[in-house]
Amino acid sequence: MSHETFPTNRPAVVTCGLPYATGDLHIGHLRGYVGADVFTRALRTLGQQTAYVCGTDMHGTPVAVQALQQGVEPEELALGRHEQYEETFPRFNIEFDNYGHTHDETNTELTKEIVQTLEDEGYIYEDEVLVAWDPEEEQPLPDRFVRGTCPYCGAEARGDECDEGCQRHLEPGEIEDPYSAFTGNPAEYRERTHKFFRLSDLQSYLQSFIDRLEGTSNARNQPREWIEGELLDWCITRDMEWGIDYPDTDPDANSEEDLVLYVWVDAPIEYIASTKQYTERVGSDVYDWKDPWKQDGEIIHIIGRDIIQHHTVFWPAMLHVAEYNEPRAIVAHGFMSLDGDAFSTSRNRAIWAHEYLDEGFDPDLLRYYLTTVGGIQDDIDFAWERFQQRVNGELVGNVGNFVYRSLLFAYRNYEGTPDVSVSDEVREQIEDAIETFRTSINEYSIRNATQAAVDVASFGNEYIQRNEPWKLTDEDPERAAQVIRDCVQLVKAIAVLIEPTAPATAARLYSQLNEDGSVHNTTLDDALEAPAARFDEPTELFEKIEDDRIEALNERLDERIEHEEMTETPTDDGSETDDDVDLEPLSEERIGFEEFQALDLRVGRIQSAEPIEGADKLVKLAVDIGLETRQVVAGLRQLHDVDDLPGTRVVLVANLEKAELFGVESNGMVLAAGEEADLLTTHGDAPLGTKIT
Ligand code: 2FM
Ligand code: ZN
Repeated sequence: MSHETFPTNRPAVVTCGLPYATGDLHIGHLRGYVGADVFTRALRTLGQQTAYVCGTDMHGTPVAVQALQQGVEPEELALGRHEQYEETFPRFNIEFDNYGHTHDETNTELTKEIVQTLEDEGYIYEDEVLVAWDPEEEQPLPDRFVRGTCPYCGAEARGDECDEGCQRHLEPGEIEDPYSAFTGNPAEYRERTHKFFRLSDLQSYLQSFIDRLEGTSNARNQPREWIEGELLDWCITRDMEWGIDYPDTDPDANSEEDLVLYVWVDAPIEYIASTKQYTERVGSDVYDWKDPWKQDGEIIHIIGRDIIQHHTVFWPAMLHVAEYNEPRAIVAHGFMSLDGDAFSTSRNRAIWAHEYLDEGFDPDLLRYYLTTVGGIQDDIDFAWERFQQRVNGELVGNVGNFVYRSLLFAYRNYEGTPDVSVSDEVREQIEDAIETFRTSINEYSIRNATQAAVDVASFGNEYIQRNEPWKLTDEDPERAAQVIRDCVQLVKAIAVLIEPTAPATAARLYSQLNEDGSVHNTTLDDALEAPAARFDEPTELFEKIEDDRIEALNERLDERIEHEEMTETPTDDGSETDDDVDLEPLSEERIGFEEFQALDLRVGRIQSAEPIEGADKLVKLAVDIGLETRQVVAGLRQLHDVDDLPGTRVVLVANLEKAELFGVESNGMVLAAGEEADLLTTHGDAPLGTKIT
């Protein structure tokens, strides 16, 4: 690892945060993957040999919780997601050199090997730890299985992270007032033996690491407080079945039984494993994974700002003890909101990756938006109108306009590039853009690097307007040829400089210019190489996004959000007053609390609904109650649109005697109020299966 200016003569590896195998990708998720892809391509444009690797994060409670909710094995769930991600990324022109997953053999073996080294080096010890436990279910509650209060800032937090407050990583036993995120039962703490990594011994190493670290300022500044404060040793095992088993160091001691490694041990190791797989595929003469990780190379991690601590404290500490190289840079990007509010996967408040593509939008438009709408560290917002403005204003109006008018003029008048040398003014302009691009990438600013390409187009539009070649073809043909020659050179420079951000667009442009070779293999010098002498009639590079399309997209999004809100929380529009309803008198008879408690009421979500043949009031529902999916027969057919029922959150009486209606078994009852069968639901985010008490 060096701190020399890019390009260095050592291979680099760029990674982005591994996606948990837990859900569909939405466009907010794409920021990191696109950002790292842009950065990788930009490094290559500088002439830096670079591998871009990633993989799916298969382990940990995020996956285990979801698998339990869906009643499938974690491995099955995670592999399905992995395939889905693998298929989605290239559709956004995100091209990994290797995309593995944390459950594969390479990562499993390497993880065990590294943990073994930590043991051998004397950095692991056993200690008793307080583990949250659901006493009713007799279940340990690791990480996301438990929620409670953050001991540092008092925010509601999950077991391993203060996700809604100070963002600190929380160690087992730290969270206060714990309760099961799954059943809602108050949790108790029980003592268990676990493995600890002696982070506290690495304080001075980590301090010096942070001083050397490049990247964004948040990644350097945030961890100082943690590193310079009391550095707690790190519990690296969990009471779980899903994960990589703790290496069996002493089979007789039996102490490692049932322990798996904490997901944050094996997840970053996938960065190395994935690079290794790349070398196995292409051969070490093409790219040797040992160069960045063991010898002398550049490691650059691009991550979300919520996982800075993992990458600036735990990860370099492990690398250091296991004798791997430390990262040269950590670039921590901000989050993206949707029209001012957070994306919410569970509430369907998102623009899904497949939805964007199905709409027929060019992936490069989104890549451009994500890269330029804010600095990498900033939180950014997506709104269809803003997307339209940037596409129409900057890509269609500026870049597309300049490129098309220049190439069309050149084609019509010269059938290609006029046979003169580029002018000094234009060469200098391109040299400046190249310099801005180079400096920006060295400062980890993909926005400014992209801006360098856009600025060439702005200059080009001004240049062509100022010189009016259409007037010169008759009056001063030599001058006209010079101006157009310059414009074609500017177009070529735009193709080279915009390739990292808009690779498919750059490829189209390169082909319009009739250039040999691939724009993906160009370096900055190519921006000044003479363009091809002949090319065909160009076509427009971008298409304007019309207002009615944006209106339709907004309507669709609003409708969906409204629908989700209505199905998640009862309406509060005051339209029904008590006067309209014939209310039943209150019951005289009281029941004891115990009798009430005998009712097992659970938060559920209707997965599917279908009419029952021959029963015009009944529907057969599949209701997901976290722990399992129940088949329930309900009298909702005439009161609800059956197609609208899936996705609706409901309250289910889980311990009602089974019944059979029209030959269909009903295993539970969905609660509803009144003649319209107004379905009961919960108002917050209580996970499926939560017991209602
Ligand atoms: O926070 C997350 O989404 C994790 N899956 C990121 C893992 S990145 C890495 F270090 F492996
Ligand atoms: Zn906190």
